[in-house]
Formats: sequence, structure tokens, C-alpha cells
Amino acid sequence: MKTTGNPAERIIVALDYPDPQGARQLLKRLEGIPCYMKVGMELFYAAGPQFVLELKDAGYNVFLDLKLHDIPNTVKGGSASIARLGVDMFNVHAAGGRAMMEAAREGVEQALSSAPGAAKPILIGVTQLTSTSRQMLNDEIGIAGPIEEAVLRYAEAARNAGLDGVVASPLEVARIKERCGVSFVTVTPGIRPAGAAIGDQSRVMTPEQAFAEGTDYIVIGRPITAVDDPREALERIVTSISV
Ligand code: C5P
Repeated sequence: MKTTGNPAERIIVALDYPDPQGARQLLKRLEGIPCYMKVGMELFYAAGPQFVLELKDAGYNVFLDLKLHDIPNTVKGGSASIARLGVDMFNVHAAGGRAMMEAAREGVEQALSSAPGAAKPILIGVTQLTSTSRQMLNDEIGIAGPIEEAVLRYAEAARNAGLDGVVASPLEVARIKERCGVSFVTVTPGIRPAGAAIGDQSRVMTPEQAFAEGTDYIVIGRPITAVDDPREALERIVTSISV
């Protein structure tokens, strides 16, 4: 992964589009800004690995957000395929357990051993989805206690399995860093610049607040992709975290 210290490199723009054309239009408008690009299941299932390679050819760091969760052998193979694509970051569900997370690491190592010189992707665990309410956690999923405890347990499990970090709400960053160490990477969605529409996110923070909490990367979608002037919106965020 290449970095130059530009604060834009810590902003991950969620390319949540149903086809590559929509994503390409946004890329054109953001040209020259060295932000990270996130490809999630909507775009990946429509546009495939080819679009990831297109982003890499254009010089972007890419987070492939496919949240793998399967038996260890399958996740190992999936992770190896993802690592061979040359992405800079990808994720697996921490709920898949230690053996599955370790298998993801092994898959990456296996892929890199046959591609000497290839950069190692940042491997991230998904803790508890931010769409989960406490009632869902306790009654439907069957995990007792508050959401924050579940998130911290998953974060610790991810660290113990040798993952590089986790996806979590910015509200949990301080406690994750306290428990897992400051170098354990946090990637935080649920970000809304002051005045932006909240949409379906519930517990939100501004970019400045999230970085003040100590997060490493913020994920931000609609406040950039669904406004009239995405470039102005992104530049405004970059400026707000630069001061
Ligand atoms: O548009 P918005 O800024 O809400 O987009 C947030 C992005 O982060 C989406 O791509 C969403 O899938 C992702 N995400 C999230 N909450 C999580 C994990 C991922 O919002 N817990």
C-alpha cells in the first residue's frame, strides 16, 4: 500500500453503486484526490474483480468489503484469491471464530508466497454490525449483554487470531484501542459531517470527532456519493481533518 501522509488517504469512500458506470462517474469527479476506495458486495457482485483491477490501475488503495464468513478452508481459499487481486484491505466476520480468522491469514500468506514483492493487505475483522440493536443481539442472535461488550470481545478475538484490526463504530474506538493496543487498526463507518443527512445510520460522529477518538480510517458513503458536488464535499472533509 502506498501512502504519502495526505489526510485524504485515511478517508475510505464507499462506492455503493449497482454498476461500474455510476462508480466511474464519481471517480471522474474525485480525480486527483488520493482517498481510499471501498468496493462492497453491491458493486463487486455486479462488476467483479475487473473493476477492482481498474481501481488499482488508476492508482487507488482499495478496501474490498466482502465480509467473508464460512468454514475455515473456504475462507482460506477466498482470502488467497482476494490477496492475489492486489487489494490493500479486506475483511472477514470475527463471528466466524479464531480458526476461520487464522485461515484467512494463511490464505493471504499462501497467495503472497507465490507473488514475491506483492504488498500484504490489511486484514480486518467485522465486529458487531452497526445495524444490530441490543434487542436483536440478545433475543435473535442469542448473545447476552450490551453491544459494546460483544464488540470488544470480537475485537480481542480478531487480535488474538493475528488480524490487523477491526471495523467498528467510532463510539467504540477508544475502548478497542485501550484493550487491543493503539496499533490495532480501526476502520469506522457511521460518519456524518455536521449538517449532512443521517439516513439509516444511527450512532454517528463527524470526521473530526472520529479522528479525535483515535480512529485510523473513516468510511463515508452518501455524504459524498449522494450530494450535488461530491468533490466539494470530500475536499471539505479533508480540510476539516487537516487542521
Ligand atoms: O452512506 P454511508 O456513509 O452510510 O455508508 C457507509 C458504508 O459503510 C456502507 O458501504 C456500509 O455498507 C458500510 N458499513 C456500515 N456499517 C458497518 C459496516 C459497514 O455502514 N457496520
